[in-house]
Amino acid sequence: RRGQRDRTPIADGSVALLAEGYLFGRHRFQRAGTDVFDTRLMLRPATVVYGADAAQMFYDGERFGRERAMPTSVMHLLQDEGSVQSLTGASHRRRKSLFVELLMDDGAIEDLQSVYRNEWSRAVRSWTGEVVLHDELTMILTRTALRWVGIAPSTVDVERLRADLIAMIDNAGSFGPANWLARGHRRRAERWARDVLALERREAARLRRTGRKNSPADARQSPVRRLATATGDDGELLPVEVAAVELLNVLRPTVAVARFIVFGAHAMNRWPGWRRRLRSGASPDRDALLLTHEVRRCYPFFPVVGGRALRDFEWRDRSFAEGDWVLLDLYATNHDERIWGDSTVFRPDRFRDWDGDPFTLVPQGAGDVSTGHRCPGERATVALMQTAVLELARLDYYLPEQDLSIALNHFPALPKSGFRIGLLPPAR
Ligand code: HEM
Repeated sequence: RRGQRDRTPIADGSVALLAEGYLFGRHRFQRAGTDVFDTRLMLRPATVVYGADAAQMFYDGERFGRERAMPTSVMHLLQDEGSVQSLTGASHRRRKSLFVELLMDDGAIEDLQSVYRNEWSRAVRSWTGEVVLHDELTMILTRTALRWVGIAPSTVDVERLRADLIAMIDNAGSFGPANWLARGHRRRAERWARDVLALERREAARLRRTGRKNSPADARQSPVRRLATATGDDGELLPVEVAAVELLNVLRPTVAVARFIVFGAHAMNRWPGWRRRLRSGASPDRDALLLTHEVRRCYPFFPVVGGRALRDFEWRDRSFAEGDWVLLDLYATNHDERIWGDSTVFRPDRFRDWDGDPFTLVPQGAGDVSTGHRCPGERATVALMQTAVLELARLDYYLPEQDLSIALNHFPALPKSGFRIGLLPPAR
């Protein structure tokens, strides 16, 4: 590491990171009154940054790639070789445009909301006694995600797929045997995804041969068909292994939105005035959006994103060299006092006159979604959450005695109980 080796502390911060969790960066930024510090994590030198300027430095101008930017234990579960996240430059933009096209247009978002509503009502009708909301939501969202991409749940072992996706999400922060076990789940899900895509390819080829590709049913190709027939930089079909990784890159995070919805339920329980506003206020849709943004800002999800410098550059009187490991602290940026006054106060109304600055609210990355690594599923996440909190607010339920605390030193975070609820009998 040129330029900075001498500033890197000898002590490894990994132990403190495990103990302090989401607050690891925030504590150090506050203590030193700085928005950048050097540390060592897992014995490797790392620079941690936060704030809107840091987010802009990190996401604008293609300064960082994602290769070797996460511990392998995380990488194997959340991303994989050949995925959109591992690409840079023109290859990245090309693959990313596929995600943007599939996940971000108005039609796709409306489909997602309507499928979710449908799956939610179906599930609620089947509930008897008390349920753990997070468990229920992961099932609802697995079915929703399948239908959204164009795979009929009746053709899939949904419970098994759900278990595989959940294992990847829940163990992204684990090491050793738990992590290895989860990789087994990932391999099983990848095998399934490859089979689905191979079938889609055969069907697309058959339609081409029989000249029926323009039949009304095929006019708008399903996302799974688009993924199956997507081509790479060389104009050839993507290797089926890569397409399978990308299919999982849609299904897995859609199921992970369950955590955010549970946080939404947690917030409505903690601040019941918001539940009332969503249930019987004058602008429930707008209020659900305000609540959604504040939940995404306040509650812990991805603590950081990591990048490896693709070239040498200067920022804040510092020299960064190609290969340097930099972490943008998302949690600290979402709690940055310079951006969010009273940052630890839960106040959805702060989003009433929010200017939409792409570098301030960063739970899903920052900057421009088409050119950088910002999450292409953010619109879908917001839409799902908005729909889900409205449905929840309208449901009559009670909370039995339980531990709703959220440990900030466990990644990924969730209320301890998973949020247990019981349905109330309909009012007469
Ligand atoms: C990228 C978070 C939901 C698909 C990202 C990144 C973050 C993130 C922080 C940026 C990583 C980076 O800069 O390297 C989240 C959170 C979600 C969520 C907290 C809530 C559950 C979704 C959904 C989808 C999705 C619903 C798809 C339907 C992706 C993909 C990337 C990505 C494909 C890689 C983009 C790229 O490298 O260009 N996500 N995400 N995410 N997300 Fe999400």
